[in-house]
Amino acid sequence: MFYPFEMERYLETLLGERDPLLQEMEQQALKETIPVVTPMVGNFLNLLVHMGKAQAILEIGTAIGYSTIWLGRAAESTGGHVTTIDMNKDRRARALKYFERAGLQNCITALEGDARKILPTLETKFDFVFIDAAKGEYLEYLNLIYPLIAPEGVMVVDNVLFRGWVVPGSIFPPKYDRMVNGLRQFIQDLSQNPDFTTTVLPFGDGVSVSQRLKV
Ligand SMILES: C[S@@+](CC[C@H](N)C(=O)[O-])C[C@H]1O[C@@H](n2cnc3c(N)ncnc32)[C@H](O)[C@@H]1O
Repeated sequence: MFYPFEMERYLETLLGERDPLLQEMEQQALKETIPVVTPMVGNFLNLLVHMGKAQAILEIGTAIGYSTIWLGRAAESTGGHVTTIDMNKDRRARALKYFERAGLQNCITALEGDARKILPTLETKFDFVFIDAAKGEYLEYLNLIYPLIAPEGVMVVDNVLFRGWVVPGSIFPPKYDRMVNGLRQFIQDLSQNPDFTTTVLPFGDGVSVSQRLKV
């Protein structure tokens, strides 16, 4: 978090109460330390899909489907569809149950496998992409996703500031060296990529938002 805890809590109260299903998932994720997006990030994803009237939505990193439900609810009202990928069989199975309980099973396709193998097989052009899987693989995802993003498509990436450690000069345990350096390289490459306009927002764990240029 990059601003006082109290401010995050306050901003979260402005979102209002989440419904019982989302609350249950938040509690489950907390209990099992499954790193799901914060409610503010979930709400932000939902808002962006609505604003862009996105139709073809791709998510890398389903986990138990918390962020997918935020995306799926927006897709339901834009008439869109979410394709989400996770390599963890057990988490995918649990996500499918949550999608049913949310009544979103027809709006979401959950693919199981390594995104690095699945992405090259996809033929859809996506107008909204959300990346939230292995932080050390972000550069690889970017290269694989690039041909799949429609002109003017939007790409959102979570954890780009990873606990603030991506900021040069930060002190963090050496075991995170590779991940932090990978994220630094990723955000640097993305920010300088002339095919995208990118901004980084310092809420949640750091969220980048990019739009691909028209041509
Ligand atoms: C941070 S969690 C996703 C949280 C989810 N987006 C949410 O906010 O509710 C990351 C997920 O990415 C998955 N993952 C990691 N590397 C992957 C890969 N190469 N391909 C597919 N899934 C991957 C993990 O199994 C894990 O469930």
